[in-house]
Amino acid sequence: MPQSYRVAILGATGAVGTELLSLLDERHFPISELRLLASSRSAGQVMTFQGQSIPVEVVGDRSFENIDIVLASAGGATSKAWAAQIVEAGAVMIDNSSAFRMHPTVPLVVPEVNPSAAAEHVGIIANPNCTTILMNVAVYPLHQVQPVQRIVAATYQSASGAGARAMEEVKTQSREILEGRPPLPEILPYPLAFNLFLHNSPMTDNGYCEEEMKMVNETRKIFAEPDLRVSATCVRVPVLRAHSEAINLEFAQPFHPEQARDILSKAPSVKLVEDWQANYFPMPMDATGRDEVLVGRIRQDISHPNALELWLCGDQIRKGAALNAVQIAELLIEKNWLRPAERAIATPRS
Ligand code: A2P
Repeated sequence: MPQSYRVAILGATGAVGTELLSLLDERHFPISELRLLASSRSAGQVMTFQGQSIPVEVVGDRSFENIDIVLASAGGATSKAWAAQIVEAGAVMIDNSSAFRMHPTVPLVVPEVNPSAAAEHVGIIANPNCTTILMNVAVYPLHQVQPVQRIVAATYQSASGAGARAMEEVKTQSREILEGRPPLPEILPYPLAFNLFLHNSPMTDNGYCEEEMKMVNETRKIFAEPDLRVSATCVRVPVLRAHSEAINLEFAQPFHPEQARDILSKAPSVKLVEDWQANYFPMPMDATGRDEVLVGRIRQDISHPNALELWLCGDQIRKGAALNAVQIAELLIEKNWLRPAERAIATPRS
């Protein structure tokens, strides 16, 4: 009989939480007990898993007792508030928030890129930022053949990145505009329907917002290339889910687009989507609900002999968040890395 595990989802009612629930079912994750946790706003709510009704519990002091794996997707403040308790209870937290991503003792893992980093965990593994995951899945296979020297990305990020309520807000705003009423932003800072705006994460001192700096710093950590040159401009667009990215990659020598195409056509979790005649390339609607990152429009940068341009779309909620987290959990089970023996547990508190 294969072993099964006691799993808790922290933030079960959110956009990523509900996707985690579907993925655990779809992928036949070996579960013996499933605990669904959220805030008091969700008290009394019931969710369905494999035909069974499971009540949503308000997270509390005893929520993590007798749990093996916590999939956390309830925001950074909630992860920080419960991390120590989760680790002390003997569970591994796979955290979708940015709270611990850059902490030196917390591995930041994209299973297609740096699976072995997960072995080093001391109770917490961080799931990278969605745009970073999608970009890394597409860039790393090329980087392995010829090290990339500089990455310049522009993102087109869907409402789902701001959560389930932001997705609803875009639909409501669309109706408001079409009916001639002023769109009222509540979750998002500005109207997103029929509009776009630069990513509204806090600005840092260098003129990049935090979302952009996540792409820089997290890629360096995941690739284990602390000096890799990365620059990004992140934009929120009126797409419900699935992010898109235009990426320019500079190498030391020319990288033939045909070779890049060949490498990416065989790369894990990548699907090449290119029909040049029909001008058909990855679109967020096509990427929605899919596990692979769709990559296409691979071409020589005409302004630089050693640079390539490519375009990608990936489901922000799946590979950009929930799927990557479930893959990390599967990796821990497959490699028997769930409970790293003989390691000092030093829970980062911030
Ligand atoms: P709730 O629905 O009870 O507010 P999204 O990213 O789609 O906005 O979802 C966020 C998820 O995190 C939801 O499940 C939400 O639960 C949960 N959450 C937010 N704040 C807390 C909190 N303080 N404690 C527990 N869960 C929280």
